[in-house]
Amino acid sequence: MLPPWSIPCLLLLRRPGLAAAPLLSSPISTALRLASTRTRTRTPSTPEPTAPAETTAPAAVGWQSQLITPIERVGKGKSFRMRTYKPRTPGLRHLKRPVEDHIWKYGPYLPLTFPKKGMAKGGRNNSGRITVRHRGGGARRRIRTVDFHRLEPGPQKVDRIEKDPGRSGHIALVTNEASGKKTYILAADGVRAGDIVQSYMAGVPPELMAAMGGKIDPGMLAAKTCWKGNCLPLHMVPIGSIVHAVGSKAGGPAVFCRSAGTYASIVAKDEKTKTVVLKLQSGEVRRVSRWAPATIGVVSNPTWQHRQLGKAGRSRWLNIRPTTKSGYKTRRPKKINTYVVTPRPRNHGKRRTKH
Ligand SMILES: *[C@@H]1O[C@H](CO)[C@@H](O)[C@H](O)[C@H]1NC(C)=O
Repeated sequence: MLPPWSIPCLLLLRRPGLAAAPLLSSPISTALRLASTRTRTRTPSTPEPTAPAETTAPAAVGWQSQLITPIERVGKGKSFRMRTYKPRTPGLRHLKRPVEDHIWKYGPYLPLTFPKKGMAKGGRNNSGRITVRHRGGGARRRIRTVDFHRLEPGPQKVDRIEKDPGRSGHIALVTNEASGKKTYILAADGVRAGDIVQSYMAGVPPELMAAMGGKIDPGMLAAKTCWKGNCLPLHMVPIGSIVHAVGSKAGGPAVFCRSAGTYASIVAKDEKTKTVVLKLQSGEVRRVSRWAPATIGVVSNPTWQHRQLGKAGRSRWLNIRPTTKSGYKTRRPKKINTYVVTPRPRNHGKRRTKH
């Protein structure tokens, strides 16, 4: 029998399909093995794990999957985790991606998408001249229509978190619990399938008003509404909060802090001018309307900035063409014959004579 401390070590070394597994016969390892096979054999027909499925899953699955996957390594002095790959091919050696275990693996919700026209334009305008350099090629895309207004009230259940080829952050497919209407919203970091998010852009709901005793109590209101992923008009968000997807105009669409991992903080509220002072990550401090929308939290996918594409072809798949250096050329001209002897100038016509 192996000492108990050796089990995590073996799990760390073990790759799926290697013969290390039969060595371990303790009940805990069997449970872990079962759990790992179950996660691997999920089919497209199975919906995203819902609340009951999560309750039946053993609590050990989280740390177990972290131990078993040998490709996730935390670098020295780094607090985040990226997915790296064994260098089976040269293009994988430097490939680094955010860990995406919670992301929906299949296609988008098609009624909320439309095909992108003009992928083949290659940066040309309508007279056919290149107006944007370094564009061309790339995979076909469908545009996801993301709701940046969030005017619809009532609880909305997060069905799944998806990737969007058109943006760096993730998007969440949400269903309104009352009307059953589905929308895509920008996903806040940490929001997962099964969570409930809500928008208060249409006003404070009557039951919440009644709970506060018919009068708005700012502290109570913040405690009940300022949760991750909820959308509020800025005057309802307490000073110092971290928000993303912030609008500029009253009821207007979100325009600031929509990229992966971005946020703004609320510095002050000016009652006289009916504005709220925001501090953006660039350091810019600016005013926006106090009725502009803001979503609590940070945009999802914060480690996106540390990704590495690993090879040139991967950026070609993203519609990016090579950038070449202009000016001084460091490469030697082609077909240079190094064996040709070119006489160098000697004496420059001033032959020295012996005296
Ligand atoms: C297209 O771009 C070219 C080059 O910049 C420019 O001269 C031309 O006016 C543009 N055509 C239109 C219709 O904008």
